[in-house]
Amino acid sequence: MNVSTYLSELFAQIADIGRDEETGGYRRFAYSDEDRRLRAFFAQTMEKLGFTISVDAANNQWAWWGDPDRDPEHNLVLGSHLDSVPDGGAFDGPLGVLSAICAVELLLGEGFHPKGAVGIVNFIDEEGARFGVACLGSRVLTGETTFARLRQLSDYAGRPFVEVVASTGVDPTELRRDELALSRIGRFVELHIEQGHQLINLDSPLGLASFIWPHGRWSTILTGVPNHAGTTPLAERDDPVIKAAHFVLDLAASAEKHEAVATCGKIVVEPNAVNAIASKAQLWVDARAEDTDTLDRLAADIARFAGGYGGTLMNESLTPATVFDRPLTEAIVSILGHPPVISTGAGHDAGILATHGIPSAMLFVRNPTGVSHSPLERANMEDMVAGVEALMRVIQGLSG
Ligand code: GLV
Ligand code: MN
Ligand code: MN
Repeated sequence: MNVSTYLSELFAQIADIGRDEETGGYRRFAYSDEDRRLRAFFAQTMEKLGFTISVDAANNQWAWWGDPDRDPEHNLVLGSHLDSVPDGGAFDGPLGVLSAICAVELLLGEGFHPKGAVGIVNFIDEEGARFGVACLGSRVLTGETTFARLRQLSDYAGRPFVEVVASTGVDPTELRRDELALSRIGRFVELHIEQGHQLINLDSPLGLASFIWPHGRWSTILTGVPNHAGTTPLAERDDPVIKAAHFVLDLAASAEKHEAVATCGKIVVEPNAVNAIASKAQLWVDARAEDTDTLDRLAADIARFAGGYGGTLMNESLTPATVFDRPLTEAIVSILGHPPVISTGAGHDAGILATHGIPSAMLFVRNPTGVSHSPLERANMEDMVAGVEALMRVIQGLSG
């Protein structure tokens, strides 16, 4: 079977899972029914191909070809995640998992014998769309996030993390760093849709990642006095939504001043009534910068702005600047005939593993719209085929 037919078939099998008919985007949140169906798809597909399936202590799914404990240093892991942001595109995450399945299966079908074992991983909750912490699967796997933090989390509906996880049959108190699973990742290569315009501008279907900008998430609650929308004179109002509006404008101006980015993509207003001045507004901020000092200065500004409107800025997660493994990246660059190497403002599980000393690299596939975390995200079949073929060459080059 050729690459494009195989890849299209794999995408078709998950196309309906979590798809919103109105927007065309995907809602695939961790520990949801959609997540359960995606995990079942992954397990069944890999089992059918003869892989051994396991789930680590962080609830990430693994599929291994060969014995992962025989010669772990030579193991090569591919994969990504299957969850999405609210109304996310079809490719952020799934492209990495499905391309890996395609590449490995085609190579094994040709009789290729890898030196070490080859694994494919489906990381849980990469986007953090449900509980607010991105890359939760890799953060728990590496021990960066422990149960002490997990037990504090709740989802968008206010349901505690522990309750949601327990309802899926998983014991949340057992979620922790997994030494065995970590010891098996000799090297990790994550293929991912590009989430910007760099490869379009460079006229290249593929690129390698050099580093990920440091980034973090914060939240603040701005309060006011709830009152009648018709009878309360403007001068007598204490309206948290007005404060929120100023806060967001301050944020944007500060990001511009620091040549960084800051986003307030989630605001919850209470009680959310048309004809009542709100009692409070909770805002979440995602901020990223090219270097740590700049991010620190931006975060200090944001804390000051929140304080000015009576709020306290709380940090929800912080990811340091991540430099991908140079020897591994250089080896892949030379295997692939020197595609461009680009930095990115997007976070990834490969970045978390790299921060914890696991040799990791990323391969990006051009996105013709340059848009991501949106139903407008796209990938051309020709570029996706180039991505799978590149992964095949990487597997042969690194594990042959
Ligand atoms: C994940 O895609 C992120 O960068 O937020
Ligand atoms: Mn994403
Ligand atoms: Mn992703």
